[in-house]
Amino acid sequence: MIAFASRTGNVRYIISKLGLPNIEISQGLVVNQPFLLFTYTDGLGQTPNIVEQFLLHNSQLCKGVIASGNSNFGQAVFCKPANTISEKYNIPIVRKIELRGFQSDYDAIIEFYNKVIGLVGV
Ligand SMILES: Cc1cc2nc3c(=O)[nH]c(=O)nc-3n(C[C@H](O)[C@H](O)[C@H](O)COP(=O)(O)O)c2cc1C
Repeated sequence: MIAFASRTGNVRYIISKLGLPNIEISQGLVVNQPFLLFTYTDGLGQTPNIVEQFLLHNSQLCKGVIASGNSNFGQAVFCKPANTISEKYNIPIVRKIELRGFQSDYDAIIEFYNKVIGLVGV
């Protein structure tokens, strides 16, 4: 499963291209199977609040983090939630994606997913 947060639709668009089980993060969501986290980037490299809250209760089953961002904000903060979450919870970064990304990004996510999550919980 992929648990995702999307504000303006880019992450949601990518999710629609992956063909993998997914769930949108809402307040109080508890996921009870291994998952990848996919988040957008907020102002100055911030992790969206709803994602921070979600991780407080769900980080243990999170097997990788994907972020979408916009490199116009500068390399220091581009997709920074991927780094922040990776360091805080010791979770590998799967991919940092420019806006809606490209097929190569989608392929990389699917490859990681199949290797690490496999068919567990589908
Ligand atoms: C107010 C605002 C602040 C943003 N700040 C950053 C940022 O600091 N770093 C970054 O990489 N992207 C930043 N972005 C870009 C978004 O993370 C990017 O457009 C992403 O694809 C949005 O995903 P979504 O459409 O699923 O919400 C920002 C976007 C907005 C609207």
